Amino acid sequence: MKKENLRPIFWERENLRLLDQRQIPGKKEWFVAKNAEDAIFAIREMVVRGAPAIAITGLFGAVLELRKFSSKPSYSELQNVFSKIIESRPTAVNLRRAFDELAQRIPEKKYESISWETFKEESESFAISVYEEDLRNNLQLGKNGVSLFPSSPSKLKIITHCNTGALATAGHGTALGVIRSLKEAGHDLTVYADETRPYLQGARLTAWELMEEEIPSFLITDSMAGWVMASEKIDAVIVGVDRVAANGDSANKIGTYPLAVLAKYHGVPFYIAATEKSFDFRIPSGSHIPIEMRTQDEVTRLNFLKKENGQPILEEGVIAPKGVKALNPSFDVTPASLITAFITEKGIVKPEDISKVFG
Ligand code: MRU
Repeated sequence: MKKENLRPIFWERENLRLLDQRQIPGKKEWFVAKNAEDAIFAIREMVVRGAPAIAITGLFGAVLELRKFSSKPSYSELQNVFSKIIESRPTAVNLRRAFDELAQRIPEKKYESISWETFKEESESFAISVYEEDLRNNLQLGKNGVSLFPSSPSKLKIITHCNTGALATAGHGTALGVIRSLKEAGHDLTVYADETRPYLQGARLTAWELMEEEIPSFLITDSMAGWVMASEKIDAVIVGVDRVAANGDSANKIGTYPLAVLAKYHGVPFYIAATEKSFDFRIPSGSHIPIEMRTQDEVTRLNFLKKENGQPILEEGVIAPKGVKALNPSFDVTPASLITAFITEKGIVKPEDISKVFG
């Protein structure tokens, strides 16, 4: 990552400073979380988003909340604090896994035997280690992704969806991390970034990251991906993921599934870049993955229709008739059969092999 500018999460011990991603690309403002409630707000309202970044924020939010207890709470009180954080966004498994791993490190028996100070210190060092591990794994999966492409510098055209970059992780990114690594390896890249309706993570965040990194790119609407695949030789579609079920079915940002169908039709390899933390072997298939439904406003409002005098034509960017019912599932599931391979920190893994590598 070239620019410190892109780092979204700063642990400052007294609080957690988050780059407010609701304001990008307009403004660079910081949101300061001082307790679990602030962290939950930040996750739910998308101040911070992206599966790995959500998990890191949740853990640090818990660390801040623990400081409010003057004496050691019971194990079940502690679990209540954690559960509220885990429930803040349902689809990405990283958040739940982070707390499961903390519980494995310090199970109830150990919790009863250690001091409150020790528990707080261990929780903080665990949160820091999850942050550092995410960065390390992203850098490694980026390198592994490079191995899928020619070893000599080549012209490569890649489509990506949503935002999976430094902003969505501890740094570097997953799918966008592979793209960064390809640039570092000397390839001549053209990236097509889907705008990612309705929340526009592609337009607001990925386009911004690509420009900050000086990676040549075009912003396209999601509906243009078919045209791009039909008229250009696309080398790969690379996306991130929020949860991979045991059979390889993968939930990611809404619009990923149609992109995978298009890729199959056009014979374009479809890769999912992910760390081990995205795999959920407790869930047999994609139909068991909880899909977050978000507010209708995200679909019915957009802010670009203006009169000549610059005034909005429709009330505050409304683009649909008042009272229309809109559907807003935030994620869809891509069947394993449409996924060429997972690009992970442990190598390139075919969907049928994930349990051998991560199970
Ligand atoms: O709703 P978001 O912006 O949190 O969705 C993000 C995605 O779908 C990403 O592809 C996924 O979390 C992987 S980020 C490395």
